[in-house]
Formats: sequence, C-alpha cells, structure tokens
Amino acid sequence: MNALSVNHLLGIKYLTPEDIEIIFESADEFKEVLNRPIKKVPSLRDTTIVNLFYENSTRTRISFELAEKRLSADIIHFSASGSSVKKGETLLDTVNNILAMKVDMVVMRHPSAGAPVFLSKHIDASIINAGDGTHEHPTQALLDAFSIREKLGTVKGKKVAIIGDIRHSRVALSNIFCLKKLGAEVMVAGPPTLIPMFIESLGVQVEYNVRKALEWCDVANVLRIQLERQEIQYFPSLREYAMYFGINKKLLDDIGKEILIMHPGPINRGVEITSDVADSKYSIILDQVENGVAIRMAVLYLLSGRR
Ligand code: CP
Repeated sequence: MNALSVNHLLGIKYLTPEDIEIIFESADEFKEVLNRPIKKVPSLRDTTIVNLFYENSTRTRISFELAEKRLSADIIHFSASGSSVKKGETLLDTVNNILAMKVDMVVMRHPSAGAPVFLSKHIDASIINAGDGTHEHPTQALLDAFSIREKLGTVKGKKVAIIGDIRHSRVALSNIFCLKKLGAEVMVAGPPTLIPMFIESLGVQVEYNVRKALEWCDVANVLRIQLERQEIQYFPSLREYAMYFGINKKLLDDIGKEILIMHPGPINRGVEITSDVADSKYSIILDQVENGVAIRMAVLYLLSGRR
C-alpha cells in the first residue's frame, strides 16, 4: 500500500503532491465502493474515532460520520455545547479524558486556528483537522480538487478562481495550497477589503473585478460571506455585495463560456451566488458533497495505516 508522509491531517500545507495523489487514488476506490449495493467495508473495524466539534457543521460532520460508518469504525460524537467545556474544561483535558477511553483517532473542528496542531503535539492519537478557525479545512480542499479532477480530467494547468470572502475563509487557504501543489493556476477575486494583503506571496493572482475573474477561469469556487467572523463591516450591505461581487446567471450568460461552478456550502443564496447558478447544470456543488465521503474514507483509512 502507498503510505502518506504524515501521521495527522493538520493542513494541506503539510502534504506533498504525492500524498494528495495517494488520497485521490484511494478515494477513487472508495467512491466505487459507495456506488455498490453494499456500501460498507471492514477496513476500520476495531478502530474508535471521536468527532470533536467545537463549531457548527452540517456537511463535514455528517460526511465524516458516514465515512466512518462505511469503514466499520466505532464512533463517538462530541459537541462543545452540552459538554463540560461549558464548565471550563480545557481542550487538552477534554481530549485526554476521551482518549483514556481508548480512542484511536480524533476528527476535530475548532474556532481557533492552530488547535489541531496544538493537540497533535500533546497526544498520541491521529488528528484530522475538520476546519480550524480561519486557517485550514484540508478535507474540503481535497474534495474540491478531487471534484475538479473528476469533471475536467486533471487539476494541472486548470485556471481556478476562488471568489468571495478570502480573508475569513479556511477553505480558500487550503484550496490555494492544494491547487498549487497539483499544478493549477489560481486567482483570488473579491472586494479589496476581503482579500488579505500579501496573498500574492502564495503564488496566486489577485483580481478585484469578478467579471474579469470569470472571463479568465475554467472553474469558479464561490465562497460564502462569513458574517459570523466579521467583527467590522467590510462592505456597505449584502445587496451591494451581491450587485458587484455576486455570481448570477445574467453575468455568466454575458460571458458566454462554460465555467464549472463550485461552492463549499453553506450557501447564502442571493448574496455570493444566485439560485439559478447554484442549481444550474454548470454547478457541481452536490457532486462536491458526494465526493466528500469518499475523500474522508480515504483520509481515515490511510491515516489508520500509519498507526
Ligand atoms: N463546507 C463545510 O465545511 O460545511 P459545514 O460547515 O456545514 O461542515
């Protein structure tokens, strides 16, 4: 079996291009399993996984749970609300108490950037980052790149525009790392206030005119405006954002070329993307969700092999 170079999935930053290819090849096999009448394999029988969610999630949490069940793992769910975190228990104490019950792997979503890296330095279990603050969301980037590969045959050489709230997006940073490692050309586009300074140092182009970004790209990955992370106002109103930076059918019709439309979800319909684009034949948003299960099965399986 091809092995990953890492014991944890803390971020795409720590993966080699070969690691990403190994994950994709494994996900190809798991996707085939998921399309069989019997979708379950015994690969992680006798492995116990805790899903530790300190932040809300729909897709990532359900997708990991399904991936773990398809691999026959034993699973425990933990959410900060309703736990002793509310009584002041630290992250490390919480995890050490869970691990004392003989847990092998930790899938973790946390509002603080760096929380999974911190844990990985203090505990023995494999850690999988399911999104840490505004830092990284590695399995999202893997499933995004896997979906591009599936639809366009390859990621290498493709022009991908990441459009929207780049400043607050962990999906943006993980996508930039992943796409660049796989040889894509990457552009970020949106209002200047939502694009971090010096982002060009990551090897991406910057465009403040969304129409120009769409004219340039093969793939548009449209990101959610993360109002919950915006401590100050970065643009005058949602209506104005939609007018100047939102993706709508008229804009795409005017440009008149086929662009693959992606969005990690959840969608603010009518803000960063209109329903007639999100639900159009060019949208692969639900394919991304479907591929998330195969990608997460691959990551769990390959990391379990490192233990
Ligand atoms: N894409 C994503 O991370 O969605 P959730 O926040 O619902 O998990």
